[in-house]
Amino acid sequence: MASCVNSPAMTLYPPRVSPSKSICCSTSLNKSVSRSSFSSTRNAVLSLRRKQTATKFQVMAAVAAEEAEPLRIIISGAPASGKGTQCELITKKYGLVHISAGDLLRAEIDSGSENGRLAKEFMEKGELVPDEILVTMVKEALSKQKGWLLDGYPRSSSQAKSLERFGFEPDLFILLEVPEDILVERVIGRRLDPVTGKIYHLKYSLPETEEIAARLTQRFDDTEEKVKLRLKTHNRNVRDVLSMYRDITVKIKGDCSKEEVFGQIDKALTKLVQQKNTSSTSPSLAS
Ligand code: AP5
Repeated sequence: MASCVNSPAMTLYPPRVSPSKSICCSTSLNKSVSRSSFSSTRNAVLSLRRKQTATKFQVMAAVAAEEAEPLRIIISGAPASGKGTQCELITKKYGLVHISAGDLLRAEIDSGSENGRLAKEFMEKGELVPDEILVTMVKEALSKQKGWLLDGYPRSSSQAKSLERFGFEPDLFILLEVPEDILVERVIGRRLDPVTGKIYHLKYSLPETEEIAARLTQRFDDTEEKVKLRLKTHNRNVRDVLSMYRDITVKIKGDCSKEEVFGQIDKALTKLVQQKNTSSTSPSLAS
């Protein structure tokens, strides 16, 4: 598998605190460290102070995270480019609510509804499910959340326009780029755990235990023939969608390990969080 150069080191999600508060905390910690060599009693006192400061900082960070303006992210890419896999990692670190158009449709199919039956006909052919079925489903899912990680939607300019019309404005549009021959291999080897929803691959991401391995399932549209149809649909529509989000698009090299792919995404998200924090604390913007 290819390796992504310059994949950044993992960084911690910066809590949304004002810069002045952050500086205040780190300065008092540094002072404590420099004083701690004087005597053992003094060391003990300072160690206690450090703990208290750290606890205060953790509380402040938790409160600040609660108040943080949530992120609104779209993740896009060809079939099996790794959207679902990266969403698992992004939600784990950034605590966003993952809304996947494909999962919404599969849940609708499982419910046995007429919409689900109709949707499956299109999905079997690798075509886009009509807007009349999907647009309202996505709108309702998004309306319940302040921040979100939207996966596999929009896939057409009409869907992008309806998002805009409903007032759902993303902060960032992530596009995963993976060569087509790799996509086919990924689809054929993909397996899902129906209990946890976790995504596996028979070569690249093996199940942790035999018990999990025994219960893995395969999606009805995960065949070579069907993924080629899905790819054609993707290639037909992707440019239209990209043109709507040009200013906020970040292209990610997706043909390397999932950790390296996440490293690139993490770097973009960290930057976004920092930008949001700066603009929300900037006096010129606040006035
Ligand atoms: P959907 O379910 O969204 O399918 P998709 O877009 O084809 O994407 P996938 O879910 O197949 O792949 P993924 O990118 O999430 O990859 P994953 O992480 O699983 O949509 C299905 C259908 O629903 C569509 O065809 C359409 O009919 C309909 N639909 C959906 N959205 C619609 C919309 N907006 N409008 C209309 N219709 C819509 O990874 C794949 C495999 O690769 C896994 O096995 C994984 O372990 C492995 N893998 C992942 N990353 C790596 C890596 N870095 N290295 C090695 N292996 C990796």
